[in-house]
Amino acid sequence: MADQPEQIVVIPGDGIGKEVVPAAREVLEAVEPDFEFEEAEAGDAVKEETGEALPDSTRELAASADATLFGAAGDTAADVIIPLRRAVESFANVRPARAYPGVDALHPETDLVFVRENTEGVYAGHESEIAPGVTTLTRVVTEDASEEIARYGFQYAEERGLDVTIAHKANVMRTTDGLFLATAEEVADEFDVRYDDALMDALAMHLVQRPEEYDVVVCPNLAGDVLSDLAAGLVGGLGLLPSANVGDERALFEPVHGTAPDIAGEGVANPSATMLSAAMLLEYLGHDEAGERVRSAVEATLESGPHTPDLGGDATTRDVTDAVLSKL
Ligand code: NAI
Ligand code: MG
Repeated sequence: MADQPEQIVVIPGDGIGKEVVPAAREVLEAVEPDFEFEEAEAGDAVKEETGEALPDSTRELAASADATLFGAAGDTAADVIIPLRRAVESFANVRPARAYPGVDALHPETDLVFVRENTEGVYAGHESEIAPGVTTLTRVVTEDASEEIARYGFQYAEERGLDVTIAHKANVMRTTDGLFLATAEEVADEFDVRYDDALMDALAMHLVQRPEEYDVVVCPNLAGDVLSDLAAGLVGGLGLLPSANVGDERALFEPVHGTAPDIAGEGVANPSATMLSAAMLLEYLGHDEAGERVRSAVEATLESGPHTPDLGGDATTRDVTDAVLSKL
């Protein structure tokens, strides 16, 4: 138990964020009554009001709290989420893709976790138009960031008895992915973890054919973005996929999905992804038992129902939330 109550910032955002984040907060309050919550605004609605999608006050709260739970933002998503990830100084994007009993999936055996470098690569922002009709992009790969993400991935795997696959394209991007791969292999020596490496294009095919052969996939930024969405397709349903943006001191947790304007306001959004993100938040803060309770309650509810319409049912967000709370 921490001496001081832990500070959790909740940012519902727009659309179904306003429905699924309060549902996940109820679950957090049920398992950790000592958490201190602070609610903050971000997204399209606050931009309309104030001209700014991410108010300074919200960014400062996220930068000082122990953890942040974010829902989704609409058109302003990039203006909100990228600075928020920076505010918590996250270097790792952790995206589990897991098939659940009771839910249709292309590959019911899928149980993977992507550990994606979150700060550099082709997303470092160095793009230019050097002449009309001619554009360039500089890909940044540093030893420090590669080492940090590899260490996070191997540590994650060792703690859970899992294997690691290092994804790369070092046969073509010999200097940048060459450094990424060599650094990750050096880090691997420090851990008691079985590992291999895979060319990311061939890996994409293998993930579709035999996802059950993979556990933890450590990847550069762009590869992780693409491969984790591919794996999301294998397990079916954006309403199920949680994620974490992890830093040394703080972290930001969010469902992978957006604001779902087609169903927003109807009270039928699936809260599972956000609740599973809340379970990751609990584990990040060292409340492993509470995290496991939340995960089990969500899984049991997915197995038994009730199900929201995205999973073929006719339950509301409230019905699913009540079912999860009763299983806690
Ligand atoms: P989306 O994830 O919002 O929706 C895609 C489809 O999945 C929709 O049919 C939606 O109803 C369904 N869906 C998503 N989450 C669901 C849930 N929890 N329960 C039931 N059904 C669910 O993606 P889309 O439509 O591409 O984007 C909508 C808006 O969200 C855009 O303005 C986009 O910019 C924003 N967005 C924001 C993100 C963020 O804040 N991190 C991430 C992705 C999109
Ligand atoms: Mg993406």
